Amino acid sequence: MTKYKNRQWIYSKRPEKLVDESHYKIQTSTTDCSSLRPGQALLKSEYFSVDPYMRIQQSEKETWEEPHPLNTVQGGAVVGKIIGIKDPHSSLQIGDWVVSYTGWQEYAITETQSLRKLNPKEVPVTTALGILGMPARIAYFGLIEAGKPKKGETVVVSGASGAVGQVVVQIAKIKGCTVVGIAGSDEKTTYLKETLGVDEVINYKQYPSTPEIKKELSKLCPNGIDIYYDNVGGYITDAIFELINRKARIIICGQISQYSGGLDNPELGPRFLHKILYQRAIIQGVLARDYNDRMNEMLQEMTPWVQNNSLKYKETIVEGFENLPNALNMLFYGKNMGKLIVKA
Ligand SMILES: NC(=O)c1ccc[n+]([C@@H]2O[C@H](COP(=O)([O-])OP(=O)(O)OC[C@H]3O[C@@H](n4cnc5c(N)ncnc54)[C@H](OP(=O)(O)O)[C@@H]3O)[C@@H](O)[C@H]2O)c1
Repeated sequence: MTKYKNRQWIYSKRPEKLVDESHYKIQTSTTDCSSLRPGQALLKSEYFSVDPYMRIQQSEKETWEEPHPLNTVQGGAVVGKIIGIKDPHSSLQIGDWVVSYTGWQEYAITETQSLRKLNPKEVPVTTALGILGMPARIAYFGLIEAGKPKKGETVVVSGASGAVGQVVVQIAKIKGCTVVGIAGSDEKTTYLKETLGVDEVINYKQYPSTPEIKKELSKLCPNGIDIYYDNVGGYITDAIFELINRKARIIICGQISQYSGGLDNPELGPRFLHKILYQRAIIQGVLARDYNDRMNEMLQEMTPWVQNNSLKYKETIVEGFENLPNALNMLFYGKNMGKLIVKA
């Protein structure tokens, strides 16, 4: 029976600020099909998802779940191939592409019921981690259900060129909104405007304070802001509240500017709740896992959009399993465009 050398990235030390390789250790073991119990499959991991929430889970404070345990394999979504299976009741077979939540390890044994089969003839398999995966799910349901976009409204999106943001801006355009995208480089803002059809863009690094970015936003949003889809928090978000319209919807999807230290030791922000009162606005947090059971609904609508190119996307693919922790660090320096993925 073939034995496979299995390298695993073990999360071993809680970061205080930025996360990097020093918070992980590599562990090597072997695995084979003889360890499979009924109902299980052995996967060869081919593409690993690298996501900002991994840093949230490293905070010691309570979030939506327990902090990621130390000295365990870093959790995360993976696209892989089945190389062994012990489940006569499953329709899965050796050679099938699947998406799983088996984390940063080269091989994984997992329950067949937890796997979602992918069809590489339909769309590239990496899309299951980004444009047709978890980030797209929260972009789609967050914007449509919490944002309730209406034709002609102004939607501002921060983190606009990332995995979530690139989907939000395009769905907002499909819904007939005027879209303003905020991102951290001219390359990203050019992509947003020229490829994704975003109406107006801001490179926030040219406006490094709340008054500066507020001034720019007020120029680009002459009719005010009806929906703000927030991926970053911090001073960019602080600038929004002065500009919101009556009944505005503020969707809190992420706060990446606060993850590297701010979650454990929050900085004091401005008090803005009176603006919510004056405008009868709504602030709503949204979480992808709350829509897990509606994945197919999203896929049915969005897969044809991806196939016919009405939904465009970028992926940043880093080569090499050994680069996983450094890839996670890249998110906090804005070194990715679109979904960040590591290829085994
Ligand atoms: N609620 C949910 O269920 C859910 C699900 C997925 C993601 N999220 C959240 O959504 C956000 C985006 O996630 P993603 O997966 O799409 O990641 P992403 O946007 O593809 O990558 C992260 C991006 O954040 C930006 N960034 C990093 N530090 C920043 C800072 N200090 N200020 C402003 N921007 C900063 C960088 O782009 P720039 O070059 O533009 O700075 C970077 O490329 C994150 O906050 C994440 O936690 C939430």
